[in-house]
Amino acid sequence: MARRYRRAVMLYLDHAATTPPRPEARAALSAWLDAANASATHVSGQRARAAVEQAREQVATALCCSPHDVVFTSGGTEADNLAVKGCMWAARERSRAVPHLVTTAVEHAAVLAPARWLADRGDVDLTVVPPGADGRVDVEEVLAAVRPQTALVSVMTANNELGAVNDVATLAAELAERDVPLHTDAVQAIATLDVDVAASGVAALALSAHKIGGPQGVGVAVLRRGLAVEPLSHGGGQDRGVRSGTFAVGLDAACGAAVTAAVADRAHLRRRLTEATDRLAARLTTIEGVRRNGPDVAAWRLASHLHLGLEGADPAALTLALDRVGIAASSGSACGAGAATASPVVTAVGLPTTPLRLSLGWTTTDDDVARAGDLLEEVLSEVVAPGRRSAASWLVGPDVPAAASEGA
Ligand SMILES: Cc1ncc(COP(=O)(O)O)c(C=O)c1O
Repeated sequence: MARRYRRAVMLYLDHAATTPPRPEARAALSAWLDAANASATHVSGQRARAAVEQAREQVATALCCSPHDVVFTSGGTEADNLAVKGCMWAARERSRAVPHLVTTAVEHAAVLAPARWLADRGDVDLTVVPPGADGRVDVEEVLAAVRPQTALVSVMTANNELGAVNDVATLAAELAERDVPLHTDAVQAIATLDVDVAASGVAALALSAHKIGGPQGVGVAVLRRGLAVEPLSHGGGQDRGVRSGTFAVGLDAACGAAVTAAVADRAHLRRRLTEATDRLAARLTTIEGVRRNGPDVAAWRLASHLHLGLEGADPAALTLALDRVGIAASSGSACGAGAATASPVVTAVGLPTTPLRLSLGWTTTDDDVARAGDLLEEVLSEVVAPGRRSAASWLVGPDVPAAASEGA
């Protein structure tokens, strides 16, 4: 289905939603597709286990952490849930006081939904820190939210929609002085940003293979030594007892291969995509009513993301026009259930215009960028209507208070 969809699309500019598998990942997946059970003691089982452990080493090397810290999951969603729920449940076990969790309004639903679920049940006190207008989170504001009962802070490395990059290293260092662990969702960051777990001092991190050229359905929770985490599910006790279930040998091997390939290509890809997104932005923002959203400073922007605000554009007309010219892009977050509702990130940042996220990836060529410029000039000139009140009223969601504190 997905393959057919891809073939039907002439120009794929939705790499933040998912990016095609790299050859190394395809090879690893097919090599281990009929692997034995990696927990079995016979020779075939041991060979399969060796493949899982090799993948674990590959991930650890790429992220600069210990293989012991690497727990394979079914993707970024499970990795985030494991860190957030697992840490907060462990904190609840340790103390009679209700533990406090700090996160931000621009997190992916994989963090915000479990955080709110825990708060709704009275398992945690929750503080949700709002972002600045560029989608970045202020380190001082996060630190100001920390209390004696704070058991975890979860701030994403880079935002999936705006591509805004947070200063996670400074935050982790400040939190370490307060003895508070930091979890970071690095799902969107790893393709183009250097991520060094040991140097940054984060306690937990989430990765998803399909955002970096691996298959869908596999990811990693980095859970560093000393961080107490309760499992989400109970069973055979695989992966330190934190993540039970038969090892997904082929998926894990493909994840390891993808991370290695992505990290080897990263500096080159970052240069290439920075140049490409800047070129596209320069061209498209000459159209009246089109502006680039997100941070102004390049160092705080993902090279892969170009988020545009379209004044007066009707989202339905935009979608139809993109379909007509054969461009696959996103007018919000494509990671949810596909509903055309207000994007929480756009709502949290308070953007008044209709959003269009163009995200480039490792398969994007110079020719794609030139063609995207031509086609988007046509589409945007047609749908953008400066002066007309933006049809982005569909985006208006619940107000995000200046410092939202939720839960008991
Ligand atoms: C920032 C972020 N976190 C988490 C996820 C969820 O990852 P997965 O699709 O592997 O569950 C996504 C997916 O889009 C994401 O962009």
